Amino acid sequence: MKLSLDTGNLDEVREANRWGVLRGVTTNPTHIAKEEKDFLPLVKEICSIVDGDVSIETLSQDADVLVRQGHDIAQIADNAVVKIAMHPEGLAATRKLSDEGIKVNVTLCFNPAQALLAAEAGAYIVSPFLGRLDDIATDSMKVLSDICEIYALQGYDTQVLAASLRSPLHVVEAARLGADIATMPFKVFQSLVKHPLTDAGFKRFSDDWEEAKAQLGELPPSMQEA
Ligand code: E4P
Repeated sequence: MKLSLDTGNLDEVREANRWGVLRGVTTNPTHIAKEEKDFLPLVKEICSIVDGDVSIETLSQDADVLVRQGHDIAQIADNAVVKIAMHPEGLAATRKLSDEGIKVNVTLCFNPAQALLAAEAGAYIVSPFLGRLDDIATDSMKVLSDICEIYALQGYDTQVLAASLRSPLHVVEAARLGADIATMPFKVFQSLVKHPLTDAGFKRFSDDWEEAKAQLGELPPSMQEA
C-alpha cells in the first residue's frame, strides 16, 4: 500500500519525503486555503518534491468547467492527478478526461455504489473518506472492504485510496483490507513510526553503549561520536 500525505504544507511534504516512504500527496481546497500562498507555485513545488501522484482538486459542478479545470491541472506536472468530486457532472467530466488519458481521482466517495460509478467512469483513483463516515457512526471499514472486494471481483484497475484517515489504526486496517493507497495528515504519518518500547529500547542501548565505550577498543570514527 502506497503511503500518501494529505496536506498543502511544503514543510510537511519535504519532511515525509525525506523519510523515503512517501509515494504521493493529496491536496484539497481546505489545505490549500490554509497555506495562504499563491496556488500555482505551491502545487508545482509539491509536484516537484514528490516522486508519485499529487492530487489537485477541481471546483465546479458543471462538467464542461470541470473538464477545462482538469486540462489546466494536468498541465501543472506529469505527476498531477485531477481530483473531481462525486456527482453526475463529476462523473461526466471523469469519463471525458479519462478517455483523453488524463488521470482522475474521484473524491468524496462514501459508499460502494459511488465507487462502482467512479470505476465505470474510468477513474484512475477513487477516494472513500473513512474518518468522515466514522464521524456519523457508519462502519467505514465495512465500506472500504466492500469496495476492495467489488473492485477485485470485477477486475477494475481503479486504485482505492483510503482517505480521511485519523489514526495509525485506520492506516493499518486500510492495508489489511487491500487499499492501494492511504492518505493521511502529517500528524498520523508521524504517529506510524512511534512506539514507547522503541524509545525505551533505544535509550537503554545508548546508555549501555556510553557506559562500555571506553572498554571497546578502537571504534570507527562515526561510532565514536555516537
Ligand atoms: C483526501 O483526499 C481528502 O483531502 C482528505 O483525506 C479529507 O480528510 P478529512 O476528512 O480529515 O478532512
